[in-house]
Amino acid sequence: MANVAIIGAQWGDEGKGKIVDLFTHDADIIVRFQGGNNAGHTLVVDGKKTVLHLVPSGALHPGKLCVIGNGVVVDPEVLLKEIAGLKQTGWLLDDASLRISEEAHLIMPYHKAIDQARERLRGEGMIGTTGRGIGPAYEDKVARIGIRFIDLLEEETFQEKLRRNIEEKNIYLKAILKEKALDFNKIHDRYSGYREKLKTYVIDTGLLLDREIRAGKRVLFEGAQGTLLDVDHGTYPFVTSSNTVAGGVSSGTGVGPRHIHQVIGISKAYTTRVGSGPFPTELHGSEGEILKREGIEFGATTGRPRRCGWFDAVAVRHAVRISGITGLALTKLDVLTGFKKIPMCVAYRYDGKVHEEFPASIRAMQSAQPILEEMDGWDTPLTAVRRFSDLPANAQKYVRRIEKILETEVILVSVGPDREQTVMLKNPFEARQ
Ligand code: IMP
Repeated sequence: MANVAIIGAQWGDEGKGKIVDLFTHDADIIVRFQGGNNAGHTLVVDGKKTVLHLVPSGALHPGKLCVIGNGVVVDPEVLLKEIAGLKQTGWLLDDASLRISEEAHLIMPYHKAIDQARERLRGEGMIGTTGRGIGPAYEDKVARIGIRFIDLLEEETFQEKLRRNIEEKNIYLKAILKEKALDFNKIHDRYSGYREKLKTYVIDTGLLLDREIRAGKRVLFEGAQGTLLDVDHGTYPFVTSSNTVAGGVSSGTGVGPRHIHQVIGISKAYTTRVGSGPFPTELHGSEGEILKREGIEFGATTGRPRRCGWFDAVAVRHAVRISGITGLALTKLDVLTGFKKIPMCVAYRYDGKVHEEFPASIRAMQSAQPILEEMDGWDTPLTAVRRFSDLPANAQKYVRRIEKILETEVILVSVGPDREQTVMLKNPFEARQ
């Protein structure tokens, strides 16, 4: 039996929540390994919608262990609200079903203040962050001044680190960002309260995962955001601050790469993006509006409308290579119903040449014109289809064409938001190589 990583193959919002939720049936443990509450996974179970930002999607299944790995940055206020909300609706009743890494870093009030103030000052050049303090929290981690859960648990260490950080951040906030200073005592007291409520969940999750894997338990690693938002491999600087690719699983959990057997990339049958940054297949006219309306393309975290465009095979092929994707889950195919022709980007044109690979240069990405191949569309609604052979012939052709261009097998097609609205072709948990 395999351990499986689920990774976004585009700019996030690919529908990972639903796919993770589906495969949770086959897993014992569900682990988040990067990002924070910039993520938002919308899950629809029995017609009821739940949005999770930090707690792994496995929380909506009884008997599963949910782990927040060391690579995640945690806003304790948001986490506590999420736990309370889940408990109220009858989930996560057993505290032992959630574990948080003692090495995970905390998002502090100054991280949020800095994130938001910087975006305001950037004006036109803004990244369009979620304003949740994610970037500044990762900056402090790398600068070796971050506060981890283990530091929060040790009162003396916590006080010392917090005092030093607040002194430094207040100078930065006031002098550079023209913001108000923050008060040590207020933050100290608030976070001491969080410590009391969260300490029951905090342990060495790397060790826990090692024990469980040795005992034969199956692990699902739940990615947040997407490959093109990866800080190393995405459209830098219009990216998030963590490694969203499969390689991030090991560093973000303490589980060695040999324990990751399958990597499932999630991609929409078209493309969306929130925030700023290059997007070669973006549609600015009525077709983009149709995708936004039919796909209900509004961010789960910020509610911002998503930019919409055609499927970009150059971008997804990049994701396939970087994450070593072994199978693709294609989501929201139903949204394409009704288009007479469905274009798909197979290469970029910039600097007067055709390029099949994703460029590192932001200038090249910004000027890239998509080279489109047109496929015939279909009219029949897909939402009731459960078998691949029942998809209209042109929808089947569209999926097969994507497989061919990406040289990657499509293992699942999603035709609606509900768990049941799925065409399953292969279960990665049963496909250990
Ligand atoms: P940050 O992660 O809040 O720093 O935002 C950096 C960029 O990543 C912005 O363009 C955000 O819109 C984008 N981003 C962050 N999280 C998500 C997500 O879960 N889905 C889609 N885009 C995201």
